[in-house]
Amino acid sequence: MREKVCVREVGPRDGIQMVNTILPTEQKVAWCRAAVAAGVCNIEVTSFVPPKVVPQFVDAEDVARRAIEIDGLRASALVPNLKGAERAFALGVPLVNYVLSASEAHNLANVRRSTDESMADFARIAEARDALEGPRIALGAGIATSFGCTISGAVSEDRVVQLAEQYAQAGADEIIVADTVGYADPAQVRRLMARVVSAVGKLPVLCHFHDTRGLGLANVVAALEAGVRAFDASLAGLGGCPFAPGATGNINTEDTVYMLEQMGFDTGIDVAALLALRAEVESWLPGERFSGAIARAGLPKTYSARLDTAA
Ligand code: COA
Ligand code: ZN
Repeated sequence: MREKVCVREVGPRDGIQMVNTILPTEQKVAWCRAAVAAGVCNIEVTSFVPPKVVPQFVDAEDVARRAIEIDGLRASALVPNLKGAERAFALGVPLVNYVLSASEAHNLANVRRSTDESMADFARIAEARDALEGPRIALGAGIATSFGCTISGAVSEDRVVQLAEQYAQAGADEIIVADTVGYADPAQVRRLMARVVSAVGKLPVLCHFHDTRGLGLANVVAALEAGVRAFDASLAGLGGCPFAPGATGNINTEDTVYMLEQMGFDTGIDVAALLALRAEVESWLPGERFSGAIARAGLPKTYSARLDTAA
């Protein structure tokens, strides 16, 4: 039995929040369906932000409603505040991912209030969640700019650990540690993630890396060494925060899956099917920058042999 690692697709959220094309709802849902057919069972499908802040998500309700119905998918959605969480709760989105920033300056730019105010809002969201009837909705608790900030520079590791602890106490079901602007290096990731993993006890911890400076996959390996077994990634390496200057794409899903499988982990995802989906998504987004070594070079001959042995 190979050890499982979860690769969550965030293309339909992070991946398209900065692109120039507004995708029709139909294409967003088709993207989710094809990803699930490729073996992706976790997708962040949309973002419940005001459409005037990010016009791409004007159809958040429609996308979420339809994604929830896809067999085999655990759909999640991003929310920046209580209002966003209420929109997600109303639809029964099974996992609702909240975001605040360890950097005060980025928190202010992104959600227009202090980090402590955002944490107080999370506590209200957790209370609202606890009062809901029906199947329990899980709360993912995100800490953006955990490894540094393009506005204010260095971010205190103690502060990141403290925020993770506060989240755990307030009722988070999983912690998401994000390198929003691609500042992290593997030594820092190993050090900080070991602290976060031990600070939050049994809660699962997920890392969200951007590959802005080419260290994305090295950071995945460092996080694996610290015990992390779940990662966000975006098809074709799309992505970036519109409120963080200089932000670029997430780690690339195809390359991340390839690396993990090649290292002996089980992601359950078929890279060849992802490459076919990538070609389709590329055709929908003219003029965007797509990254990815596997899309360029192809899978090595040793790759299918490995899968054969595992089967
Ligand atoms: N969804 C829809 N509408 C929302 C909303 C949400 N999540 N949050 C607030 N609103 C509405 C309010 O109801 C209010 O509407 P009204 O003017 O008709 O009364 C209006 O937006 C302003 O509300 P307010 O609470 O003052 O929000 P704000 O203007 O201070 O903006 C955020 C705060 C959090 C909504 C905004 O900064 C935001 O969406 N940030 C997220 C940015 C992002 O997506 N970053 C990338 C991902 S990390
Ligand atoms: Zn991101």
